[in-house]
Amino acid sequence: MNRFALLTRGRPNQDFTCLDLELPAECALLVRVVSDWGGRVFLVGGLVRDWLLARSGLVPNRDSNWAGGGRDAKSDWDIAVDLRKTGKTLVQLMREICRQTGGRYVFYQRFLTGTITLPAGRIDISHTRAESYPGPAVLPKVQAAGIEEDLGRRDFTVNALAIEMNAQGQSRVVDLYGGQKDLQARLIRIIHPGSFIDDPTRIFRCIRFAVRLGFEIESGTAYLLRTAVKDGYPALLTPERVLYELRCICNETEVLKVLEAVVKESVLKGCWQWQPSQDFFTELKVLTQAGIRGELLFIYLLSRLPIAPNYPVTREEQRAQQALRDFPLLAGRLRRARRRSTFYRLLKPLPLPALKILTVLTEGLIKNRLELFLRELKDIKPELSSQDLIESGIKPGPQLGRILEQLLYARLDRRVKNRDSELRLVRRLRRKDV
Ligand code: CTP
Repeated sequence: MNRFALLTRGRPNQDFTCLDLELPAECALLVRVVSDWGGRVFLVGGLVRDWLLARSGLVPNRDSNWAGGGRDAKSDWDIAVDLRKTGKTLVQLMREICRQTGGRYVFYQRFLTGTITLPAGRIDISHTRAESYPGPAVLPKVQAAGIEEDLGRRDFTVNALAIEMNAQGQSRVVDLYGGQKDLQARLIRIIHPGSFIDDPTRIFRCIRFAVRLGFEIESGTAYLLRTAVKDGYPALLTPERVLYELRCICNETEVLKVLEAVVKESVLKGCWQWQPSQDFFTELKVLTQAGIRGELLFIYLLSRLPIAPNYPVTREEQRAQQALRDFPLLAGRLRRARRRSTFYRLLKPLPLPALKILTVLTEGLIKNRLELFLRELKDIKPELSSQDLIESGIKPGPQLGRILEQLLYARLDRRVKNRDSELRLVRRLRRKDV
């Protein structure tokens, strides 16, 4: 670990003068290489915000132990470099770091960004850049620029903070838009008035960060957020971008509060004409109280949203959300069923995520049967294997499959209990020529 003492640039701010940064060796190497080339290197994004918050005692820091798994994949190291005076490119930098560390990199020319994947984690690198938006809600065009433009293109003042580092192990906060003041005042504030129009995903982000950090949305920002919704900008977002925002929301600790605020501000109504009923929030509350988050919660959300079949979700998510939608039909059959093998047959086709969600949302008999399936039935197998049956003289083929199935059902219904009774059943089934 390389220690960086925090120095302030410009007007010193007493609250943030003694931050110690601990960088993993690979990031420190990157700082050294860029500095040797004569470039500039910055920590940027949520990492800086969270560090400064933690230092000021406002919010506990997220675990910054890189290899220890504290930082999740989404929150790895976010670094911006300014190589304009070095005669080198971002690809050359990534290649050099990978040469020295054995990492792998990918580079996205269109956005001047890349990712280095190392055994211990990930470094997201971008060139400091300016963005111009060809139209509302369209992905921006980017070109290399300095840190001033790079911070100025960002969403909120508290996310537009950087820490510049040099090869001597010194560092300084770059705060050009009053981010530290807003951290102190606990405010989410956009940097320029066109922010929500350029990028309406920031409407979701604004609400998400406000809830997560327990901050207010600054009044001018709140006004522009509502105006952007009223003027229909969320509807311009592609399904992919909206779904990405919903995934992020589902990973939040306070997901219920975030979704309540998103609905209150009519953001999803603006995207997809979707206004949830009260029972949606009742179910959401039950799920979050049971600790359901992330992917499972996202699948539940999908099952309630008016999403088209061609929306960009994975096949598993599509299957699971469809199973949730179809469950009311299945529930009647599950209630009427008497045998454990029937519970099994009804529930076996359902994807596991759907079953987990349903177990939380249902009650009484249905819940008991879902729990029984998950706890016990889904793992039951006959003692005899297909190999045993083949060795007993049954030819591989459809009959073998049918006998195995009957064996499983008998086992589930406890009509056979051991290998001998299974063998007796196999003999009976063969006599009946099933
Ligand atoms: N950003 C932006 N506008 C967006 C998305 C991102 O300006 N629509 C900028 C912000 O400066 C943000 C940074 O890109 O801090 C990184 O984005 P992301 O990883 O989504 O945000 P974090 O703040 O790092 O969020 P988290 O704490 O959830 O990791």
